[in-house]
Amino acid sequence: MAKLTFIGHAAWAIEGNNLKGLIDPFFDGNPQAAFKKDDFLDVNYIFVTHGHGDHLGDTVYIAQKSKATVIACFEITLYLDKFGINTHKMHVGGKYKFPFGNVKLVPAVHGNSIVTQNGEVIYGGMPYGFIIEVDGKKIYHAGDTGLTMDMALLEKENIDVALLPIGGNFTMDVEDAIRAVELIKPKLAIPMHYNTWPLIEADPTKFVEGCKKVGVEALILNPGESVEI
Ligand code: NI
Ligand code: MN
Repeated sequence: MAKLTFIGHAAWAIEGNNLKGLIDPFFDGNPQAAFKKDDFLDVNYIFVTHGHGDHLGDTVYIAQKSKATVIACFEITLYLDKFGINTHKMHVGGKYKFPFGNVKLVPAVHGNSIVTQNGEVIYGGMPYGFIIEVDGKKIYHAGDTGLTMDMALLEKENIDVALLPIGGNFTMDVEDAIRAVELIKPKLAIPMHYNTWPLIEADPTKFVEGCKKVGVEALILNPGESVEI
């Protein structure tokens, strides 16, 4: 049985056989964070969808302390390699079998750069979402993305849980996220990336209602809450 815990914003803990992982581990400066970065120093994998601060977050700190392997695209890992942490380089469209299951990078429509503390902007390659297989379940974390027809290709992946941004401004809003759900047809949809700041305010109950209308179950998790699948 796989377990997903919503940390807040786009950050998740994901657990299953051979996996104690984090996705987009943004703790410091995350107004929604229900945990501290030091609560997760026993993780073995960290998944990073792109280099923006609210996703790359505390990856370097946690990876250095935990010795976890960071799974990310080539450009992001080139940056991370400078910190002496373990990385696994992948890229969009690629799939690899890890000890816990397959991981595939799928397209996201967004930007991808890292802004360093002195304001330098480092190119991060193409952004992406993850399809993570663990304990026989398929979890899709969309990363930051706009609505795209590429999502129609995910229907055949038979996604069990889709974690989708709904906050608008930087990503899909509620209306577009419901259209994404219509394309992906996951067994369960969970909203994320909303109400962290005023700029991305959204009503998740409207997302749940909209999903129901297109025949997909949706669940709102508050930061700190988990679901077992
Ligand atoms: Ni972003
Ligand atoms: Mn973001």
